[in-house]
Amino acid sequence: MGKILIVYCSMTGNTETIAKMVEEGIIEGGSEVVRKDVLEVDANEILDYEAVILGSYTWGEGEIPDEFLDYYDEINGLDFTGKKFAVFSSGDTSYDNFCGAVDILENRIEVNGGQIVLKSIKIEQYPNEDDEVRCKEFGKRFVESI
Ligand SMILES: Cc1cc2nc3c(=O)[nH]c(=O)nc-3n(C[C@H](O)[C@H](O)[C@H](O)COP(=O)(O)O)c2cc1C
Repeated sequence: MGKILIVYCSMTGNTETIAKMVEEGIIEGGSEVVRKDVLEVDANEILDYEAVILGSYTWGEGEIPDEFLDYYDEINGLDFTGKKFAVFSSGDTSYDNFCGAVDILENRIEVNGGQIVLKSIKIEQYPNEDDEVRCKEFGKRFVESI
């Protein structure tokens, strides 16, 4: 099994914490993982991986934030055929479109021919103890799904 790539963005650290928990779950699940901030990753790098997890907080009115937008544009049109994906977001339920970034990212993956193999997780702000279990489980289940 090849390494799994996690690409995430985080302004105040919530999504980064989730990404680290997902990473732990992947390692517990027996796979290797590379976790990168979206600002440090080259768009074409995604083509080197068969399994990728994208994570973003949600901004505006259910949108992906600017720092993820460049990456989102750059991966547009890349061929994701045969690649397996899952998505997570941190958000705030006081907004109308809770964790809307998930839908936007899942849509891009599917338009590019990628396969979503695991239901997304949407976390309220900073992950609490229950969320930590969910995040690690998400990582483990992703390993089982690929
Ligand atoms: C201006 C602004 C707009 C936001 N819009 C949404 C939104 O539409 N939906 C949502 O679920 N959360 C929204 N949020 C909440 C953030 O996604 C949430 O605070 C998240 O935990 C931040 O993650 P981070 O710590 O990784 O930056 C918004 C926050 C701000 C400041």
